[in-house]
Amino acid sequence: MEVKVVSNSEAGSQLAYEMIRHALEDGAEVFGLATGSTPERVYQLLSESDVDFSQSISVNLDEYVGLPADHPQSYHHYMQKKLFNAKPFKHSFIPNGMNTEAEEIENYNQILEENPVDLQLLGIGTNGHIAFNEPGTPFDILTHKVELTESTIQANKRYFESEADVPRYAYSMGLASIMKADKIILLAFGESKAQAIKDLVTAQAVDPLIPSTVLINHPDVTIIADEAAAKLI
Ligand code: GLP
Repeated sequence: MEVKVVSNSEAGSQLAYEMIRHALEDGAEVFGLATGSTPERVYQLLSESDVDFSQSISVNLDEYVGLPADHPQSYHHYMQKKLFNAKPFKHSFIPNGMNTEAEEIENYNQILEENPVDLQLLGIGTNGHIAFNEPGTPFDILTHKVELTESTIQANKRYFESEADVPRYAYSMGLASIMKADKIILLAFGESKAQAIKDLVTAQAVDPLIPSTVLINHPDVTIIADEAAAKLI
């Protein structure tokens, strides 16, 4: 695991942008994409660049259960607005929040098998979750339906009109799905991520209560943290 501490989120986003750009130039075909506030600037930089994803595939980490693609808080809508309108991919896959659990698990696992991820972009939750793999998620799990924890609902309610509107479930790539990516970049900006970054960077062994620690066994992970997120390491 390589940890790059940068002065602020702008520098971190620039670095991630450059890494994605180089990966594309070096032949990466399948990009694993994340949502949340953290990668927004990276998507903006990509959108404003001359990067061409028209021959690339994207697979997203997760989607809320019960939100249709055109719902303003769905991750489909987020990706469309933040990246795909400016930079369409040849094909973009995001879990379908309207499918039944059985359908979507089969569907998304097949998509991931057919489109192995070359470069996976990740954020991190304040409780150490990656994608929507909450504490306690088994490390060997593939796509699954997740019940969101109270802390994740609290963290994500800012996007919804009220807390009651935040979906309670999501479909998420599992930890084992994420580990299949050739290369992983995890972004963490701001003080609210400091404990999660400390827990990850100082982990001596995987800890099921800190899902991100699965990454210590991956051969190619770069953590890009700004000074605020790195302040406890
Ligand atoms: C959500 C997403 C994660 C994301 C996390 C952090 O729960 N499922 O993929 O990493 O939030 O979000 P933010 O970047 O807004 O802090």
